[in-house]
Amino acid sequence: MLVSMKAILEDANTNYYGVMAMNSINIEMARAGIMAAEEEHSPIIIQFGPGQMKNHAHMEEMLPVVEELAKRVHVPVALNLDHGSDFYVIVDCINAGFSNVMFDGSSLPYEENVKRTAIVSALAHGMGCSVEGELGHVGQAADADDDNLDLYTNPDQALDFVTRTGVDALAVAIGTAHGAYPKGKIPKLDFERLHLLKDTLKMPLVLHGGSGSGEENLKKAVAGGINKINVCTDAWQAAKDATLSALRVDPEMDYMHLCMAAEAGIKEFVKDYMKVIGSSGRYIYGKAVSRSSE
Ligand code: 13P
Repeated sequence: MLVSMKAILEDANTNYYGVMAMNSINIEMARAGIMAAEEEHSPIIIQFGPGQMKNHAHMEEMLPVVEELAKRVHVPVALNLDHGSDFYVIVDCINAGFSNVMFDGSSLPYEENVKRTAIVSALAHGMGCSVEGELGHVGQAADADDDNLDLYTNPDQALDFVTRTGVDALAVAIGTAHGAYPKGKIPKLDFERLHLLKDTLKMPLVLHGGSGSGEENLKKAVAGGINKINVCTDAWQAAKDATLSALRVDPEMDYMHLCMAAEAGIKEFVKDYMKVIGSSGRYIYGKAVSRSSE
């Protein structure tokens, strides 16, 4: 069932677990994610970035796919616009039926970020769509932005930001970055800051740049109040690895079977991820199972 991201994250916030938000650029990824969620009794968020929608996963094509797949399962599925910045794209997504839009004003001056995020919140909420904002800036692993403390989210400013914008979830910068880290590097997360943010805001918090964070960091992040974890690079890598290993076994494998191998690889990856971040077993017969994370 397709539901608002707000509903998914409210349960995750109350019960201290994380929900995977996977950048899914084709039918194999969307189906792998949603079917993994069904098997794990877990919620899932399927998301598309504006560049991904422009280059490959066109919204008009992918939206009916996600809607159809969501209808077939008993777990909650949300559809999110990731890193929205162009108002026209955001409005198109809201009108089309996305259940959440992110407005990423994290590179703008603070007051401009507040102003534009508040406009998106007013628009989206009027249409029954929830909103994620970003404060601080989660940059690029290739630029070592994860080590740049100047980009981290300030808890006092975050309280002002959520009060004035009305966002339903907030992406925070606490030491992760988008993309692959240099070989052997595991990011160092600022858990003290995360605890302060959670104590101050008491709302769903989002970790961008989930890939390459390592299991221990992910578990501690969830225990510290992260409720949505964005994963792109690692999910694409799972698809690529599964395709390459299928080709190693049978270099003559046809394209359809390669797609099936990729889908199976992503599904296993997602199921494992759900166990790590504590979302497995949270929904039975479509109903949230109330229990706090162990
Ligand atoms: P990664 O590619 O590092 O997983 O980041 C994904 C992300 O944060 C999408 O918004």
